[in-house]
Amino acid sequence: MTREEAQKEIEKLRKDIHYHNYRYYVLDDPVISDAEYDRLFRRLQELEEQFPDLITPDSPTQRVGAEPLEAFETVQHTVPMLSLDNAFTEEEVREFDARLHRLLQMDAPFEYTVEPKIDGVAVELVYQDGRFVLGSTRGDGVTGENITANLKTLPQIPLQLLDETLPIPSRLEVRGEVYYPLDAFRKLNEERERAGEPVFANPRNAAAGSLRQLDPRITAQRPLEIFIHGLGVIEGYTLNSQWEALEAFRAWGLRVNPLSRKVVGIDEAIDRYKELLDRREQLEYEIDGAVIKLNSFELQNRAGVRTRSPRWAIAYKFPAHQEVTQIIDIVAQVGRTGAITPVAVMKPVRIGGVEVSRATLHNQDEIDRKDIRIGDWVVVQRAGDVIPEVVKVVTSRRTGKEKKYKLPDTCPVCGARVVRLPGEAVARCENVSCPAQVKESIRHFASKGAMDIDGLGEKLIDQLVEKGLIKSYADLYFLTLDQLKNLERMGEKSAQNLLEAIDKSRNVPLDRFLYALGIRHVGEHIARVLANHFGSLDKIKNASEEELMAIHEIGPQVAKSIVQFFSEKRNLETLKKLFEGGVRIQEPQPEAGADNRFAGMTFVFTGALERFTRDEAERLVEERGGRAASSVSRKTTYVVAGPGAGSKLAKARELGIPVISEKEFLEMLK
Ligand code: IVH
Repeated sequence: MTREEAQKEIEKLRKDIHYHNYRYYVLDDPVISDAEYDRLFRRLQELEEQFPDLITPDSPTQRVGAEPLEAFETVQHTVPMLSLDNAFTEEEVREFDARLHRLLQMDAPFEYTVEPKIDGVAVELVYQDGRFVLGSTRGDGVTGENITANLKTLPQIPLQLLDETLPIPSRLEVRGEVYYPLDAFRKLNEERERAGEPVFANPRNAAAGSLRQLDPRITAQRPLEIFIHGLGVIEGYTLNSQWEALEAFRAWGLRVNPLSRKVVGIDEAIDRYKELLDRREQLEYEIDGAVIKLNSFELQNRAGVRTRSPRWAIAYKFPAHQEVTQIIDIVAQVGRTGAITPVAVMKPVRIGGVEVSRATLHNQDEIDRKDIRIGDWVVVQRAGDVIPEVVKVVTSRRTGKEKKYKLPDTCPVCGARVVRLPGEAVARCENVSCPAQVKESIRHFASKGAMDIDGLGEKLIDQLVEKGLIKSYADLYFLTLDQLKNLERMGEKSAQNLLEAIDKSRNVPLDRFLYALGIRHVGEHIARVLANHFGSLDKIKNASEEELMAIHEIGPQVAKSIVQFFSEKRNLETLKKLFEGGVRIQEPQPEAGADNRFAGMTFVFTGALERFTRDEAERLVEERGGRAASSVSRKTTYVVAGPGAGSKLAKARELGIPVISEKEFLEMLK
């Protein structure tokens, strides 16, 4: 195949893939199967591999893979990103409408758009000649941060605008909202909780945290989504109204919220608000109100803006997911890692359709800061379906009979000492065989992503631990039919089933086994990273903190926690017992034990090397799962340059590819 032929096919493939992305992600109406799509994608990858100089940053293959940044650059918004004035009552909304009529001296009802107000993170996308060239956060409205590489990982953001039905503007700057879908958010928090990591307070924080990653590969793992709702700048095409803009965005392949409507007059706008309020609970994302915007751009311009918000739009907010109720008691709950969490037990209330009777108080500092006492009337909030929390105390309802609360010095379950390490907000029970911790760790061990032991539920675990039949998860593999069949609500048949489920779990892939162990900070993802990198439990057991930290995605805290886990005698004994109980680990195939530190990376050597020949250096890269290439392209991860380096070095500089010395390369081999 000639370069010209390849170029032609590549262009066709990219166009097709962009179109099918649009069908799938924006219209939610794919016209080809996933398998066909994969085939197109793989063909493109293949051709780009053969002709790396034909790779462009807007190719669908280039969504992930940018190198981590040191820090975000700042970006000046061409037009400031304003915020919105809020209205909380119908009266305030009518006043907004009346004000506009006075200001514009018009009597006829206005056309408005009514759009869901997405509770996410505001971003700006810039398209130059249809190509996505810059993405940024709102920042202070005037200057934001350049998060282009992160935004490129969202499949819903087209890298190239479509020109099927409308011509593409030469420049387009649009605003939208990135959000974390609720289902995925719940899963994320569950995983973090199990890994002993702090949970996100709400989906918005999760979205913000995911977007502000310096490493786009982490953002790529988060299922972020986006809706585009506003225009910043447009050149080379004319739009006359907000509604026209939304329709044009959709035609260009940008994702627009399907619940947006055009209405006439403020009454219709208020009706639409009520409809959205009704739909709120069924949506897969959080909305916190409706945005009412004057439709005509001409009228918008005449109405003008204030310092921070436009006069032509208002956010009509929904009542918060909050209720007021009374705290009956505060209890201390012990988690798998021994963390002791104060929990408020409250008079049950319904919040957004869900009955709530417990709320987390997080830790002692939070209780002190909010001055929460037993007997207090409090505002309780359910944010994005996470564990409800107490927002504040209604101090005006205090009677003087409320009681202050202090977390106990001893564990409420086992009576052992509770310690709070300096710098940590969390207090922990020190007793590793505390029944509460043991139960939690067994529950985790048996859970779906871990050993997946069917039928080993919470109640059963409680019984097994309380009757002294098991003291750790390793004991599960020594349970007998006689022991089980005499338990409450357990017949011979279900005992038999449970034993079978336990037996089935004896054969387990390394990553799931690692996750099951319950090492702090080792969630499902990190477990997979470890398993793939080291390939065997022995290698992980013997890894030093430095070796662990050399792996991308493993930071000092995680590395420390892993080393600590495998240095504790008790844990080593548990491992031994697991193996005695018949647990067999399946190691990842086919590259078991391989050193894959350079997986996914491409190196180019140029200039003279002192320590080895070019061939040796390239072999060293390949042995570690990397690729050595002879020419520099956007796919190159590092250029290793020695004295006398010439055009390849220049090319690397031009493309912004990191250039390292032979000495630095040697460091990477260590
Ligand atoms: S229009 C000048 N429309 O709400 C107009 N904003 O409090 C400004 N938001 O920063 C924004 N959904 O990030 C608009 N349909 C929508 C929106 C929306 C969510 C966010 C936006 C803005 C904030 C204003």
